[in-house]
Amino acid sequence: MKLKNTRILITGASGGIGGALAHALDQRGACLLLHGRNADVLHHIQQNLLNPECHQIVIADLCVDSERQKLVDAVAQLGGVDILINNAGINYFAWLENQSEHQIQQQLLLNIQAPILLTRDILPHLHKPGMIMNIGSSFGGIGYAGYSVYCASKFAIRGFSEALGRELAGTSIKVLHFAPRATQTTLNSAAVCAMNAELGTKSDSAEYVAQQVVCALEKERVRSWLGWPERFFVKLNALFPNLVDKALVKQRHVIARHAKVSTDKENLR
Ligand SMILES: NC(=O)c1ccc[n+]([C@@H]2O[C@H](COP(=O)([O-])OP(=O)(O)OC[C@H]3O[C@@H](n4cnc5c(N)ncnc54)[C@H](OP(=O)(O)O)[C@@H]3O)[C@@H](O)[C@H]2O)c1
Repeated sequence: MKLKNTRILITGASGGIGGALAHALDQRGACLLLHGRNADVLHHIQQNLLNPECHQIVIADLCVDSERQKLVDAVAQLGGVDILINNAGINYFAWLENQSEHQIQQQLLLNIQAPILLTRDILPHLHKPGMIMNIGSSFGGIGYAGYSVYCASKFAIRGFSEALGRELAGTSIKVLHFAPRATQTTLNSAAVCAMNAELGTKSDSAEYVAQQVVCALEKERVRSWLGWPERFFVKLNALFPNLVDKALVKQRHVIARHAKVSTDKENLR
């Protein structure tokens, strides 16, 4: 799809990947509805875009039904959108037994329930041809210790994307699933960055991820997985999960040490 003059709603535009995406899509001439919870950050992003007057801001906590409705109302007022990008997300890195009920609920609410409900409510306002892009993760294809709840949400958003895409086949609305690997944003705590450094896990800049998202939108690529060896391990995990079990069990003691640091820091807050 050509992105010039398309209207795009980006959730989580105040975050690392969302902010970089706002810049990349603005450069392509798209008109953006920038969502987040932090008005100051969103205004700063908007003012630094090439065409600030083309874009609008909507503030809402996506975990609250009445707030999520603000996005639907804003889209309806604009006469619809061409693309919805479900990007907002959170994670807590910790062993399951150390995650509070609130942390578990927030991850499931924001990463899977909110995008499903938002997609349902935006669908009647989505132009045809139109696209829905769901931002997943490598952890939507590989179960990883310390991320059991986050993985559950990201496996779910992948299943949702695939099933909805098949449901909408022939309607000229496409559903794209885009899975970044570790990306340099504040989503990853110091403990996660230290673990990634120790394990040699590579990460991408948010700007690189944003460019790849733009490419996937332009090419209407239904499934995108970023990074090597992550893409290979996702395929291997689907075919031979026992092999990946064996590879990951060797990392378990390192992951456990960093997960403990992460939990201790959370408890001190
Ligand atoms: N960073 C990575 O390593 C990585 C890897 C793979 C996939 N991803 C996925 O990429 C997406 C973006 O992640 P990121 O790295 O850019 O994270 P980020 O920098 O932490 O940004 C998260 C965004 O989500 C928004 N958000 C958080 N809680 C919210 C709530 N209750 N209601 C509404 N919005 C809320 C934040 O808004 P406020 O700023 O207002 O709080 C922010 O805009 C997520 O879906 C994430 O799972 C990230």
